[in-house]
Amino acid sequence: NEGALWGGRFADGPAAAMAALSKSTHFDWALAPYDVAASKAHARVLNRAGLLTDDDLVAMQAGLDRLASDVADGTFGPAPSDEDVHGALERGLIERVGTELGGRLRAGRSRNDQVATLFRMWLRDGMRRVGLGLLDVAEALVAQAEANPGVVMPGKTHLQAAQPVLLGHTLLAHAQPLLRDVARIIDADRRVAVSPYGSGALAGSSLGLDPAAIAADLGFDSAADNSIDATSSRDFAAEAAFVFAMAAVDLSRLGEDVILWSTPEFGYVTLADAWSTGSSIMPQKKNPDVAELARGKAGRLIGNLTGLLATLKAQPLAYNRDLQEDKEPVFDSVAQLELLLPAITGLVATLTFHPGRMAELAPAGFTLATDIAEWLVRQGVPFRVAHEVAGESVRVAEQRGVGLADLDDETLASINPELTPQVREVLTVTGSIESRNALGGTASSQVERQIVVAWATIDEL
Ligand code: ARG
Repeated sequence: NEGALWGGRFADGPAAAMAALSKSTHFDWALAPYDVAASKAHARVLNRAGLLTDDDLVAMQAGLDRLASDVADGTFGPAPSDEDVHGALERGLIERVGTELGGRLRAGRSRNDQVATLFRMWLRDGMRRVGLGLLDVAEALVAQAEANPGVVMPGKTHLQAAQPVLLGHTLLAHAQPLLRDVARIIDADRRVAVSPYGSGALAGSSLGLDPAAIAADLGFDSAADNSIDATSSRDFAAEAAFVFAMAAVDLSRLGEDVILWSTPEFGYVTLADAWSTGSSIMPQKKNPDVAELARGKAGRLIGNLTGLLATLKAQPLAYNRDLQEDKEPVFDSVAQLELLLPAITGLVATLTFHPGRMAELAPAGFTLATDIAEWLVRQGVPFRVAHEVAGESVRVAEQRGVGLADLDDETLASINPELTPQVREVLTVTGSIESRNALGGTASSQVERQIVVAWATIDEL
C-alpha cells in the first residue's frame, strides 16, 4: 500500500474496522498546505546536514511545489487507503518524484513531531482570523457608540431597573471583553509559536538536523526545548480552545442583550431585515436568530474546550494516539467563530436604536433613588441615613404612583428635613448620568474618552 508509512514488521495489513477507526484524512487534510511547506523546510535541513544532494533538493522542492498546487486546486486528495494527511502526501510526493527520492524525505522526522508542528501552524493562522473577526465586532460596537452620542437608556443589575446609563457606555461594555479576547489570542500565540519539528517520535533527531533553523524557516519564534514535551503537550491547543470559548461566551452575552432589547417589552432596538429571520407559520415574526446562534455556539465551543481537556487528562508521556482527537474540536471552534463573527458584526452595525423609548424607561423603577442618597451625602448626611431617606422617598412615590421628581416640597421635607427642593436638580436622567464623571463612569465625557481609547486599542491590536 503506497500511502502506508509503516508495514515492514507486519505480515498482515490492518483489519478494515481498524483502518476505519485509525483514519484521520477527513479532518487532518486541513493541515495539507502546512505539511507541504514543512516538508520543503525539512528538505532544506536534510540538504544542509548532508543527507540530500543539491540536485536532489532541487528535484524534491519542484516535486513538493507541484504537490502543493495539486493539493490547492484539488487535483490531489486523500485516497481511501491513506491513513492520514502525512501518509497521503508522501504517496503524492512519490507519485511525482519517484520512490527513490520521495522515500528520502522522511528521514529524521516522525508524524509525532510533524503533526504537533502543523497543528500549531494551522492554529496560528486560525487564531489570526478569529482575532480579526473579533476586532470587526468590537469596531461595530464602538462605531454604534459613536453614532449615538448622548442617548440614555435604563441600566440594569439582576435584570432589574438600576441606574440610567448612556447607550454608548453599554455598547463599549460589550466591546471591552472582545478586545481582551483579542489580547488573549496575541498572548497565547507566544506559546503556540514554538516549533516541535526535529523532536522526532519523542527523543529528538540523531541526523544532525537543525530544529532552530526549521523553526525559523516556518515562522516560529523558537524551537522546543524538550522533545518529549514538544510531541506530547497540547496545552497550547487547550489554551486556544479556551480563548475561543471565552469569545463565544462574550458574544453570547452581547447576543442575549440584543435579544432582550428587540422584544416589544423593551423596544430599545429594531434589527435590520438582513440580519433577522421570519417564521414559517407566524407572518408577523422577526426573530433575532443571529444573536440566538451566538448563544447556541457558545455552548458548542465550551463543549469543544471541555472535550479537549478530557482527552488530555492523564495521558502518560509521550505521544499517544488519543492526541489524534485534539484537532477536530479546535478546528470546529474556529470554523464556528468564522461563521458567527461576520454575522454578529453585521447585526451590530445595522441595529436601529430607539432613543425615545429608552429615555422614557430610563427613570422607570425609581432609578434615580441612588442620586437622592448621594445628593444627601454631599449635604453632609451619613450614607446609612441617606440610603434610608432615599428608600423612604421611593416607598412614598410608589404608594402615590408618581415618580421621585414629582414628590412635592412638603412631602420631601416630611420624609427628612434635609430633603430640600434643591434635590430635584439631580432627579433627571441626564443629571444623574453626567454626575458620574469619574474615570470609567457613564458621564458623556467618560464615554467619549473610552471611545478614543477603544479606537486606539483597535488600531494597536
Ligand atoms: N494522525 C496522528 C495525529 O493526528 C498522527 C500520527 C501519529 N501516529 C502514530 N502512530 N504515531 O495525532
